[in-house]
Parts: sequence; C-alpha cells; structure tokens
Amino acid sequence: MKPYSVTPLASLKGKVSLPGDKSIACRSIIISSISSGRTVIENFPLNKDCLSAVRVFRQLGIRIKQRIVLRNKLSRAVITVFAKGLYGLRKPPEPVFVGDSGTTLRLVLGVLAGQDFKVKLIAGKSLSQRPMRRVTEPLRMMGAQIKSRIPYPATRIPEEYAPIIIKGGILKPITYKIPVASAQVKSAILLAGLYPKGKTSVIEPIPTRDHTERMLKLFKAGIKTKKNAIVMEGGKELTPPKKLYIPGDISSAGFFMVLAAILPDSKIIIENVNLNPSRMGIVKILKRMGADIKITSYELRVTSYEPIGDIIVKSSCLRGTIVKKDEIPSLIDELPILMVAACSAKGKTILKGVGELRVKETDRIKSMTQNLVRMGAKIEVIRNGKSEDIIIEGGQTLSGARVRSFADHRTAMSMAVAGLKANGKTVIDDISCVDKSFPDFLAILHSLKK
Ligand code: S3P
Repeated sequence: MKPYSVTPLASLKGKVSLPGDKSIACRSIIISSISSGRTVIENFPLNKDCLSAVRVFRQLGIRIKQRIVLRNKLSRAVITVFAKGLYGLRKPPEPVFVGDSGTTLRLVLGVLAGQDFKVKLIAGKSLSQRPMRRVTEPLRMMGAQIKSRIPYPATRIPEEYAPIIIKGGILKPITYKIPVASAQVKSAILLAGLYPKGKTSVIEPIPTRDHTERMLKLFKAGIKTKKNAIVMEGGKELTPPKKLYIPGDISSAGFFMVLAAILPDSKIIIENVNLNPSRMGIVKILKRMGADIKITSYELRVTSYEPIGDIIVKSSCLRGTIVKKDEIPSLIDELPILMVAACSAKGKTILKGVGELRVKETDRIKSMTQNLVRMGAKIEVIRNGKSEDIIIEGGQTLSGARVRSFADHRTAMSMAVAGLKANGKTVIDDISCVDKSFPDFLAILHSLKK
C-alpha cells in the first residue's frame, strides 16, 4: 500500500514526452514473436503490463533482449525480439503467468490457438476476475481446445475465467460477428486467423482500436478492412520491419490533457503522441466540451503504421456534453478521467452505454462514482436494459476527501487529477497500482507543476 496525498494545484505548464502506448507495445511483442526474424522496438514502455508480455513470450521460448535508455531522467527500453516464424514458439515447461495484462492474455490465446501444444495460463488477482468467454468461444469455433475456470454454482450468464488451459492445433477460418465492442476479442481472432489457410473475418458492431490490423499490415500479413469487417487471409509467414517505434500513449496523455484544461492559466505540450483515429475520442469529446486543444506536427510513422503528433492543451471553460454509445470504444479507457472533466464542466454530461466499464481492472462505474460523490459530485447511474448510462451534473467545486484506487491504475490517476482541482486535501489509499500502465505518472506530474 502506498497512500498519496494531493493538495490543490494552481496551474500546469511545460512540455512532456510520454512513454510508448501500452496497447501498441503489447502487440509489438506478440506479433514480432511469431514473425520470421528480428525486430527492434523503440520507445517501449516499462510498465507492468508490457513487461508481462515480454515475460510470457520469453517463457514461450522467444529470445528477447532489453536495453534501458534514459530520456529526461525517465526510462524507456529498446527491445530486440529474435523470432522463428508462426510456429517458432515452444511448449513452456511450467504454467505461464500473464500478470494482470488483459491484452496479453486475450491476444496470446489467439496465438496459442494455432500452436500444437498445451499451455496453462495463470493470471493475477484482478485479471482472474475478468470475463474470458468472449475470446474462448470464437477460438473454440476455430478448433482450439480450451478449459477454463467456470464459477460454481454457474452464474445466470455463463462466464469463464483464468486460469485457462489451451491446446491449439489445426484451425479452420471462421466469420464471426463479435457481440461486444472489444479490440482484444477482435485481435485474438485475427491472430488465430494467421494460422489456417483461407479467410477469417471479424465483423465489429462498433469500430474499436485498430492497432492489430495496422501492425499486421506492417508485418506484411494478408489483412484487409472492408467497412465493418476485417478479413485475414491466413497461412502466410510474417515479415518483420527493421524497426518499430511505439508512439506516446494517448491514454496516459488524457490525465494531463484534462488537468491542463480544468486548471486556470495552464498550457502543456505533449509530444509524440499516438493520434490513431480509433483512440481520439478523448480529444474529440474534450474539444466538444469547449477545451482549447491543438494538434501539431502530425505525421504517419512508417515504423509503426500509426499517426503521431504533438497535442497542445490550454485552460478553458468546459461545458457538459452527451457521449453516444458508438463513441465509447474510442475513449473506453479515458472514461474515468472524462468523469473528472465532467464534474468541472458547466451543465450536464451524459455518458451512454458504458456497461463495459464494469469489467475493467475494477468496476470503474463503481470506483469513480463512489470516489467523486465523496468529493461532492452529483452523479447518477441509470440502467437501460443491458446498457448503462452515467449522468454527471457538473459545475460543483469538489472538496478533498479520502478516496480509494480500488487497485485500479486509471481510477488512481483520475482521482489524483480530481484532487489537484479540488478544495482541501485528498488522500488516495494506494497509488502503487499506476505501475500497471504508467510508472512515471507522478514524476511527470511533478515536472509539470508550477
Ligand atoms: C485494449 C482494448 C480495450 C481497452 C484495454 C486495452 C487493447 O479493451 O480497454 O485497456 O489493447 O486492445 P476491450 O477491447 O476489451 O474493450
């Protein structure tokens, strides 16, 4: 437990360059590990989830070299992966621990579905409570044999959890309409689709982040996107690019963007951020709320197939907005910090169809609502059949309080931002969980405090 006290901050000023994006970095390890040769990955973030991805593929027999580079007193890594093709993994002698990285677990299941050996995957405490049926079901349809933990007595909605034992083999291509908007599910099926000859198609209800598709194109996979369907032509080895650069994490940028927008007399420049359109929800919605945000130096990095640029945010008067259900996947991980922005905004903000927040590292509807209400926010959660909406009546000045991170990195960082804007002192019970995605969060925050 590492408690953290926050007192009000006058303003935020300066320039930062953030660690590489967690989603892209996890994919870089997974995809390069099944390619034919050597990949050098730059600006790799040293957070727990990405290091879990590295550990998992080392256990699966891949040689991965790591060199730490110091930049402005913050460490990043240059990773070199030496891979041996789609079938170059080896059966690990022991069960594989995936930590709490949902992306690693769900995506590695797609890769293991194509391998001719059995593996037991064990997850950390929080990931062991997150639903896995969304990936096991389509992978079984493709031919993988999977056993998982099914709670007893079975819940009304049948669900499955880690530990998971998977035995892959000869797969068949499928066409699958995914029932939940989830990039992790889409990616698991596409990675499994690399193995069988023929076309595996994934149809998405609402578009989700497309990092897997972009990276697979970079590795010259036979992948095409046609409207809401992604089609993978399998049976072809992956060719590694010479270098792969991981752009800065827009989810980490979100905390500083909101803080600069809601504090007076603030201006920050966040350099080299990933500007993938499928992740730009936070920029789009904050702008719609009246935030002063500009994007400069936009370019498409050939080494990551991802757009990248600088984001400049200045203080502004925010007003409430309505975020529609089909906008949610583009800012799914930024909803906690958007709730903090909504508390500062004038008028009502409605976040529609946010039920997926219940199955993140913690139930983020509960964690954020409980905490912000303790600080004086007016929040209502409404169930609409299967869907859930959050309504925030903004404009109140929040008061410092004792709040909880619920061991969730994004709840912890969002509450730190709320505390910096509130009156009085806020104490977060445990901030150590930020290591999951952003161990440099406090160091960067302190460097921007004025
Ligand atoms: C991720 C996708 C999202 C997101 C998670 C990372 C990814 O989850 O919440 O933090 O890397 O693909 P879902 O795809 O399950 O919505």
